[in-house]
Amino acid sequence: MDRRSLLIGGGLLLGTAACSQPTFGDDSSDRIPLPIPPLMDARENRQSLALRAQSGTTPFYPGRPSNTLGYNGSYLGPTIRVHRGDDVSMAVTNALEVDTTVHWHGLLIPGELDGGPHQIIRPGATWRPTLPIRQPAATLFYHSHGHGSTAEQVYTGLAGALLITDDEEQGLGLPSEYGVDDLPLLIQDRQFERGQLVLPTGMMIAMQGRRGDTILVNGAPNPFARVPNRLVRLRLVNASNARIYDFSFSDRRSFHWIGTEGGLLDRSVELQTLALAPAQRAELLVNFEDGRPVSLVTGPDANASMMGMMGGTGRRRQAAGAQTVLRFEPQPSGKARTSGSLPTVLVSRTRPDAATAVQRRRLVLNMGMGMDGGMGMGSGMGMDGGMGMDGGGMTFAINGKPFDMSRIDERVRLGSTEIWEVSGEMMRHPIHIHGVHFDVLSRNGKAPDVLDQGPRDTVLVQEPVELLIRFDQPATKFPFMYHCHILEHGDNGMMGQFSVA
Ligand code: C2O
Ligand code: CU
Ligand code: CU
Repeated sequence: MDRRSLLIGGGLLLGTAACSQPTFGDDSSDRIPLPIPPLMDARENRQSLALRAQSGTTPFYPGRPSNTLGYNGSYLGPTIRVHRGDDVSMAVTNALEVDTTVHWHGLLIPGELDGGPHQIIRPGATWRPTLPIRQPAATLFYHSHGHGSTAEQVYTGLAGALLITDDEEQGLGLPSEYGVDDLPLLIQDRQFERGQLVLPTGMMIAMQGRRGDTILVNGAPNPFARVPNRLVRLRLVNASNARIYDFSFSDRRSFHWIGTEGGLLDRSVELQTLALAPAQRAELLVNFEDGRPVSLVTGPDANASMMGMMGGTGRRRQAAGAQTVLRFEPQPSGKARTSGSLPTVLVSRTRPDAATAVQRRRLVLNMGMGMDGGMGMGSGMGMDGGMGMDGGGMTFAINGKPFDMSRIDERVRLGSTEIWEVSGEMMRHPIHIHGVHFDVLSRNGKAPDVLDQGPRDTVLVQEPVELLIRFDQPATKFPFMYHCHILEHGDNGMMGQFSVA
């Protein structure tokens, strides 16, 4: 089974990634300060924000620049902050040489504003959607979503954090000083060869999704963060292509989980570990009052198809156990402008009533060898599409149908509530649905785990999971997507689309 890597932008084929020695960034003396993406607040910019998708070079390691993509910079993008009730004018310019799109992941807006594969921005063009912000405070993100090019463009850097705030959240007294006690953390695993970012390709990559043995936080390998010795809010965004994290702290301290993809929980939940699948977000409050340095760590990701495991893609360092994500160094904070607190009750939310569901749909996320006779090997149907992905005989589909931009798979009535039962083949898949937030109603026929609670937009499935969904955003001219957020699976066909009218 082949495992190859492309030096980003260089088009240079390298040897097998598995043979490379991780010679950079292993030593704790290499730690660099956590970069905080610049904050672009819509109100401070008179509700008018500009993003420019561009290419550049990023020295992840000193003296070893990599060719990367970013928004308004060379890798990743600014943190956008918008306020509930506002209308925000975005101007997104494509300064790349290829098509791109920008999807506002988690934003509840009509289909034509969504930034999915249908809202193509050609090279040199500017897309100007006005985004109505009508949902509660939450941690979202934005990323490239071109048809067949999402995985590669996100891997190379096209993603950023998008925060929604509102009066209710501001009234809670949570830590909210951006970059000080309220930190956005975009977490991504990436593969490096001698300090330069490479793009792993090949059949195994199509199956498992792109992984890497180096974890970046806000684009930095091996970072540390100086934080005040008080309560600090972490907004974790799993912006990886495929990796599931299993977060905890190196001293096993507990923390308070306060928010999901869709916003704050009703009440905080005290935890010692929290798993996060691709595209999932979590807000945590961590107490650094004892002043002791501590690291956020992750366990290995065991999510692999049986075939992948036989192919031996397991990473040595992952297999070795916990991996450091980010080291915290608490500092005496002097006089805090405001010291955040932890309220017991956060928000109250009205959920849809399952009894009002008018329709049940089933989605099976398919992954297998050449299903449906001849759609696999060689035909390239819905898989390769010339985007450099190499499905290599695998078929990725939903309900037996690989993604087709010209086919509407499901038609939903605007304002209705439905139950979608989603399951997946061969491994766990993070199913994401555009234009909605949902509640997990059941998992494998049983009441959902406490960790499934809250308003979600992405959830892991393999065993059947029932989602209770209310469709309040229209998608008439352009449909919404639902897809696996292992980006290589989505690009290769594990995606469908639905209209809401
Ligand atoms: Cu985060 Cu359809 O995407
Ligand atoms: Cu989305
Ligand atoms: Cu998948």
